[in-house]
Amino acid sequence: SMLTRSLILKGSALGPVQRLIRESRMFRPLVRRFIAGDSLDDAMEASHAVLAKGQTVSLDYLGENTKSEAEALSAKSTYTTMLNRIAQDAAFKCSTAPDYKAGEVENLNISIKLTQCGLDQGDDFAEKNYRDVLSVAAAQGNFVRVDMEASEYTERTIKMVEKVHQDFPNTGTVVQSYLYRTPDDVEWAIEKQIRVRIVKGAYLEGPKVAHQEKSKVDEAYVSCAKRLLDSANYPAIATQDEKIILELNRYVGEKNIDRKSFEYQMLYGIRRDLQDSLLKEGYRVRVYVPFGDSWYPYFTRRLAERPANSLFILKSLFRG
Ligand code: FDA
Repeated sequence: SMLTRSLILKGSALGPVQRLIRESRMFRPLVRRFIAGDSLDDAMEASHAVLAKGQTVSLDYLGENTKSEAEALSAKSTYTTMLNRIAQDAAFKCSTAPDYKAGEVENLNISIKLTQCGLDQGDDFAEKNYRDVLSVAAAQGNFVRVDMEASEYTERTIKMVEKVHQDFPNTGTVVQSYLYRTPDDVEWAIEKQIRVRIVKGAYLEGPKVAHQEKSKVDEAYVSCAKRLLDSANYPAIATQDEKIILELNRYVGEKNIDRKSFEYQMLYGIRRDLQDSLLKEGYRVRVYVPFGDSWYPYFTRRLAERPANSLFILKSLFRG
């Protein structure tokens, strides 16, 4: 399955495949299953539907690896527009001094990427943009999550989040169970009480840095998640893996962990049935809602997670 994943990620990066998927109207329904739309309006509409169910949202403006400072500044301006739009929204609930354990948590936050803040243009430049976004969020009582990207950025991301967190406690990041280093990063998050989301990891990583077998990635996920549930500051358990979720629910029951002291997170359009049933059982569920016109890399990562989706694309390619 790791091989299929790698083939899909590599194949979809090819020019002709990319052009076909981006331009053909045939794939629109599949794209729209995972992406709320091109505009912030689309994303807010999708978010309201999620909030109405009693779930919470993290908005993601799609895009990564800016090619110039101008591009990064434009992304930053979109981030602050999102925050301002959220702050004005009647459905937005926040707390300037959140007590997550007591159940106070922002219901509509945002997730950002450091490479979209200009990390490829320089660390200081990206850090300045990240801080600018955070100061807007802090004034509104909102929270900004830094998504984790490919492993070449992991160390820089962790270090930057740690540094900036000293001035802005309203930020946190993500750890990926496929990386060998992650158990240490879990301890780091616990020690600093920095909010983290745990995921399996969506990028193509080699055997020098990451587990290659799915069973190993899953095993590491469960053990890191349990550690976070035991001791971390309001961890986010992000997965659509029902087997893992059942195992963690059992653990939460057994250890008498408060169901409001953490949240499950899932991607927009994936396993809605599971999102709804968890909520019914009294767990918190946050849905990650992506929007924007740079949806292609995000979309291909979702395809790679579920080969059946790509099979659909392959078949239509051959049908012509
Ligand atoms: P896995 O891939 O094993 O899937 C388990 C089951 O879930 C599948 O059998 C299927 O039923 C269902 N499923 C999963 N993906 C599906 C899909 N695309 N279509 C249909 N069904 C699907 N990664 C990263 O590197 N950095 C990050 O910052 C983030 N952020 C993030 C936020 C949130 C809220 C989530 C849920 C995920 C991320 N990820 C991420 C992605 C993550 O690393 C991982 O690639 C996906 O969550 C898929 O892995 P699962 O844990 O769902 O398990």
